[in-house]
Amino acid sequence: MASTEDKPANKENTSSWKDSIYNPRTGELLGRTASSWALILLFYLVFYCFLAGMFALTMWVMLLTLNDYVPRYRDRIPSPGLVIRPNFPEIYYNKSEPHKYADYVKKLENFLQRYNDTEQENNKECLEGQYFMQNGTEDKTKEVCRFKRDWLSLCSGLSDTNFGYSEGKPCVLLKMNRIIGLMPRGDPYINCTIKRDNPTQMQYFPSKARFDRMYFPYYGKKAQNNYLQPLVAVKLLLEKEDYNKELQVECRVEGSDLRNNDERDKYLGRVTFRIKVVE
Ligand SMILES: *[C@@H]1O[C@H](CO)[C@@H](O)[C@H](O)[C@H]1NC(C)=O
Ligand SMILES: *[C@@H]1O[C@H](CO)[C@@H](O)[C@H](O)[C@H]1NC(C)=O
Ligand SMILES: *[C@@H]1O[C@H](CO)[C@@H](O)[C@H](O)[C@H]1NC(C)=O
Ligand SMILES: *[C@@H]1O[C@H](CO)[C@@H](O)[C@H](O)[C@H]1NC(C)=O
Repeated sequence: MASTEDKPANKENTSSWKDSIYNPRTGELLGRTASSWALILLFYLVFYCFLAGMFALTMWVMLLTLNDYVPRYRDRIPSPGLVIRPNFPEIYYNKSEPHKYADYVKKLENFLQRYNDTEQENNKECLEGQYFMQNGTEDKTKEVCRFKRDWLSLCSGLSDTNFGYSEGKPCVLLKMNRIIGLMPRGDPYINCTIKRDNPTQMQYFPSKARFDRMYFPYYGKKAQNNYLQPLVAVKLLLEKEDYNKELQVECRVEGSDLRNNDERDKYLGRVTFRIKVVE
């Protein structure tokens, strides 16, 4: 008897649970009628359309004010970092074993491919010592000044395909990072020193070790897609007493307003690397 009394109660429980999802008597789904659901859906539809519209409008206004050729937001122009090629903090090799320096030579050769005359046929012969200002509308492709690979002479890889590594007088190339709009005041040149008592001889190419003004300002990747940074090569004329020792070389950009002694950033206008040639 007790069991027959229990059953209806059970049934009521399950039906009220089911009703909370769909109630066939009132036609409510999850506690709302169809028209109530329709209103809610309509509200969200209108609401999201409005949001999407707002988003599209602001994007459109933003894009109207952007220009592909010049970055829009720039504060003061920073000083560039100085980097070396081959890009190793330590250049260690045995000058009698070509496979020990092959990697350095290959890196240099690959890097200089872009400086080949054939790659620069469309580049302009610019006036030395003068900034290459290019007026006219900002959104136009601009010309690029030619840098001749053979200005690097013994470090060009043309006359000496081993860049001096085989004779134990290796070349290192230096370049500054490109910075849009940078126009260094003065005549920036490279000065490398080895921390030692008797100074090691060095040879620079081009001979003034200068980054000529004609390569400035840089107008950006889109306006000057073929832009090549000017290079300075330094050839370390190591002697017998320099071999089998680790030498620390520091190179700085001097002679201009470019920063080279920032305490926090040791690559700003300067670079250090170690070199050890064994025989
Ligand atoms: C450099 O290489 C030469 C020739 O293989 C070898 O005789 C010499 O011991 C090497 N020098 C050093 C310091 O390993
Ligand atoms: C660049 O010049 C070097 C030396 O003349 C040559 O070996 C190399 O193939 C040239 N590279 C290109 C991409 O023209
Ligand atoms: C560009 O403008 C500067 C200053 O406005 C002027 O000195 C220079 O001669 C102009 N250069 C060219 C190529 O028009
Ligand atoms: C290069 O730097 C060294 C050490 O700072 C300095 O003594 C020398 O005069 C500099 N050379 C040039 C050409 O500026």
